Amino acid sequence: MQACFAAICRITGLLLHLLVVIQCCTIYEFNGSGFAANAFALAHLVPIFHNTNGTFFLDNTWNHYKCSDEGGWHDFFAWEDQLVPWEQDKEDEEPDAPCRRIDIEGANKVVFEDLRLSWDELDFIGIKKAWKYQPWVQKAIDKRLAKLADVAQPTIGFHVRGGDKLAEDKMLARQTTEVADLVNKFTETWPDVKGGTCVMMGDDRGRIAAASKLAAKQIGCKIFKGSPYYRKEGHLQDLFNQLSFEDKCSGTVQVLIDMELLAHTDYFVGSYNSRWPRVVQYLRYILYSKDRDTAVDASAYGLDMFTNIRRIFQQQPQQ
Ligand SMILES: *[C@@H]1O[C@H](CO)[C@@H](O)[C@H](O)[C@H]1NC(C)=O
Ligand SMILES: *[C@@H]1O[C@H](CO)[C@@H](O)[C@H](O)[C@H]1NC(C)=O
Repeated sequence: MQACFAAICRITGLLLHLLVVIQCCTIYEFNGSGFAANAFALAHLVPIFHNTNGTFFLDNTWNHYKCSDEGGWHDFFAWEDQLVPWEQDKEDEEPDAPCRRIDIEGANKVVFEDLRLSWDELDFIGIKKAWKYQPWVQKAIDKRLAKLADVAQPTIGFHVRGGDKLAEDKMLARQTTEVADLVNKFTETWPDVKGGTCVMMGDDRGRIAAASKLAAKQIGCKIFKGSPYYRKEGHLQDLFNQLSFEDKCSGTVQVLIDMELLAHTDYFVGSYNSRWPRVVQYLRYILYSKDRDTAVDASAYGLDMFTNIRRIFQQQPQQ
């Protein structure tokens, strides 16, 4: 059945390509970049390759978000009978082996070029299907969420990113989202919301302290912080990838706790220059039925749906 991939896939246009999708086993290959970038690509792929008459495998070889060398996505997420941890032996047993391998770049190609879809359509389905925690992770999340339940309302979530995002901004000639951009985006979008609790999550401790100070001043909120990131200056992917499995394991649970806290706040502000707040946006909307317009992008590019809508209509001449 190698023919299924090798012979048909390579010579075809969209129609046959889709036929192949329907018949072959697939392997999603995590790579060494961030948690959100990898999880996000997986969310795109689940609606396409899950349940299409071939096993959907996850190859965790280069996934650094795991608790042991043999671990991976399923250290934290359930549903391993459907997104099957890849092993060579298991692949060899597939009628269509070798399976189609797909990484983040391949995912983008399938989504944007072959299927001409946007991320949204797929991620709504992918997150709903696949975002199921292992019980021990759910327990850690619930414990922290219980603390959030006690704070003054409304709750206003901020994701404050420093670390290697700053170098990435430089490299891509992209405008960095500063602390003031986050807080200003909130006060501009919701000028009447005051007080409550600002839930501050992120990596760079100095930026989080600055954001907390500014938010307290402008919004009048009390501050609820996450556990401090292990590295004061924030996340550097290269350094994270060199941590012990114990630290990678606890670091990943921390990421999930932080994401969940922000997914439960009444309002949420992040910079969509990072994939991370986009994941939070989907969790809010898909898992917790929050209104989509309670999450905004504070980047210079205004990439959330409602900022986009406002921009388009505000540019129309007034009648
Ligand atoms: C992971 O894949 C993305 C998309 O192709 C790429 O930009 C990134 O550099 C890769 N990361 C690593 C560590 O290989
Ligand atoms: C599922 O895949 C097997 C093996 O490739 C094939 O024989 C069978 O016809 C497929 N069934 C459907 C419904 O596509």
